[in-house]
Amino acid sequence: RPAPMIAPSILSADFANLASEIAAVGPSDVDPGVDWVHVDVMDNHFVPNLTLGMPVVESLLKATDIPLDCHLMIADPGRWAPPYAEAGAYNVTFHAEATDDPSSVARDIRAAGGKAGLALKPGTALEPYLEILRDFDTLLVMSVEPGFGGQKFMPEVLDKVRAIRKIIDRGDLRLLVEIDGGIADSTIEQAAEAGVDCFVAGSAVYGGDDPAARVAELRRKATV
Ligand code: DX5
Ligand code: ZN
Repeated sequence: RPAPMIAPSILSADFANLASEIAAVGPSDVDPGVDWVHVDVMDNHFVPNLTLGMPVVESLLKATDIPLDCHLMIADPGRWAPPYAEAGAYNVTFHAEATDDPSSVARDIRAAGGKAGLALKPGTALEPYLEILRDFDTLLVMSVEPGFGGQKFMPEVLDKVRAIRKIIDRGDLRLLVEIDGGIADSTIEQAAEAGVDCFVAGSAVYGGDDPAARVAELRRKATV
């Protein structure tokens, strides 16, 4: 399997010092640097929490060369998602539950120069979306209810990971499988074995005082 990708979530970082918090997970003597930085956008509508939006993302894009992985937990992604791609976000992921026409949102994100991601809440089945996944670059499998960091990992979502991995490995689909929620030293191995490519980790990276060392250890554990 290819090397695991690690995407620290700045939701658990110090919001008054985001540039240095991101720099702390860049290239260092313990790790080659994270693959993506995961940015959780919440609108207090799709989820019961409010974080940040376009103005902060625009500033982050100027502050780092690390590709931004924007996870939009928002209503009306058809209206709000494409501008993130236009601004320069590398990957723009929105929720399947938030729109009736995920494919058209994906098309608009791609037309704006971004990669498109589809996110599924823990209780959302994969099956109804299999047909449209060719319109996407990333599938984000949520392993906690979206809205907050620091929640407990839900291992039952790994059935979705195993199912999509099988389809990808058959050569029927090109898609990156990402997992988000409760990823830590104790849970990342089972997620890696199920077939995850990219691991989001918030509290496991920024909850301690050495984010770079935490990333290196997660990467080591995810290597299967
Ligand atoms: C939750 C967010 C996650 C969150 C993960 O709704 O989508 O990205 O930051 O935090 P941890 O890794 O602490 O579960
Ligand atoms: Zn997220």
